Amino acid sequence: MQDGPFTISIALPGGIPSQYDHHIVRTLSSMRGQYADQGSYEAMLAREDVVLYEVYEIHRPEVPGELLHGVSIVHPGKVGDEYFMTKGHFHAVLETAEVYYCLQGEGMMVMETPEGEWAVEELRPGKVLYIPPRWAHRSVNTGREKDLVMFFTYPAYAGHDYGTIERQGFRKLVVERDSQPCIVDNPRWRAGE
Ligand code: F6R
Ligand code: ZN
Repeated sequence: MQDGPFTISIALPGGIPSQYDHHIVRTLSSMRGQYADQGSYEAMLAREDVVLYEVYEIHRPEVPGELLHGVSIVHPGKVGDEYFMTKGHFHAVLETAEVYYCLQGEGMMVMETPEGEWAVEELRPGKVLYIPPRWAHRSVNTGREKDLVMFFTYPAYAGHDYGTIERQGFRKLVVERDSQPCIVDNPRWRAGE
């Protein structure tokens, strides 16, 4: 880990940073129960455990004052008519925000709060998305061919709560209808106990 100031480069197209400490690769099998069309999910998984997205992370100490940052790359594709997406999470320290800067591709960020508010923001190269404290977030690649590449940064002590989304899902899904991305209610969403 670097002691003083440092820079990294994010080469485009592609988005793989010039240096990183962790490379996280998430495949279809880690998303069981998250896609609405379970039949398509199982059929696809039986063929291949495809890579849905990758995260390149610069490690920083998980203490107040430090910022974790890196690059997330969501590959293009669909499970049934639902686009490839990240697992999505609340931050374990709920009162922490995050900033995403879209570098390449087309997508949407699906967000919601424990209180039931929801929002979806379009992601395009050059757009900066501010996710306030309390908002769970999931990135979705709505592009046909290109990776969705984003720089992100958030407080290093935030941590991740994946369990809540694994249990209840997001209230909204992004699916393809008439060749266009469309936001629909998640029929399987269920309120937390
Ligand atoms: C960190 C963050 C991103 C995501 C990445 C992968 O708080 O929001 O770095 O971790 O986009 O998504 P998840 O973590 O939901 O698998
Ligand atoms: Zn986050």
